[in-house]
Amino acid sequence: MPSTSPTAPQLDPQWEVPTHVAIIMDGNGRWARARNLPRLAGHRAGTENLRRVIRACVEFGIRYLTIYAFSTENWARPKEEVEGLMEIMEEFIDKELDELDEEGVQIRHLGRLDGIRPSLKAKIRESVERTQHNQRLVLNVAFNYGGRDEIVQAVRKIVREGIPPEQITEETIEAHLYTAGMPDPDLVIRTSGEIRTSNFLLWQAAYAEWYFTPVFWPDFGREHLLEAIADYNRRERRFGRVLDPDE
Ligand code: IPE
Ligand code: IPE
Ligand code: MG
Repeated sequence: MPSTSPTAPQLDPQWEVPTHVAIIMDGNGRWARARNLPRLAGHRAGTENLRRVIRACVEFGIRYLTIYAFSTENWARPKEEVEGLMEIMEEFIDKELDELDEEGVQIRHLGRLDGIRPSLKAKIRESVERTQHNQRLVLNVAFNYGGRDEIVQAVRKIVREGIPPEQITEETIEAHLYTAGMPDPDLVIRTSGEIRTSNFLLWQAAYAEWYFTPVFWPDFGREHLLEAIADYNRRERRFGRVLDPDE
């Protein structure tokens, strides 16, 4: 893996690095429009950028990276854009899987496989299977993912298993989400200036710190991630408690 230049800004050793970072990769379309390019060129640039951000996460020691790549609502976009996005996802797997595997990235899929075309479904399954023992970074790809849909699926599984209502706890729900067994995100980043969840990790992000930046996703690089981590370190996570009762 190429190392960063010695003059690049570095992590402050005093900082706490978030264990789990989640990113709503937004703004590909506007990035393209600003350059008079078709929207799909923005999605291509965004996908190339992903490589850069994954590398930075490995460098910073982040253990879980969850990326929002395609929502259950994104099917409502024009057919050519949806097909283009499926194509780009396939190309990404074809191009990057070997290297991601070598770098120790464990790929996980969050979302529904049904509805995804067979060729892509097979590639997603292969990526997950091939990398399942890797330990350096868990990369959750939220693709055909919706937070509400995830909760519906969890409820269905719980009912199917016949768990009695009085035995259902928050842990039961958590254990039936796509993210079962993983820590909740500490930091959720959304690029492109939009300030909303758009159905991302509704359950898991209950106590995440949120970071919004106007930068469009294809331009969001290592230095922006570093700034988000710096901002995270200026936050005080209280989880409903009072930290210093005497103040
Ligand atoms: C995010 O970029 C990528 C996906 C939702 C697939 P957008 O395509 O939403 O870009 P904008 O928001 O239109 O600029
Ligand atoms: C959220 O972005 C979904 C992804 C980044 C994959 P959208 O661009 O689809 O969200 P809205 O429509 O602006 O809320
Ligand atoms: Mg968008």
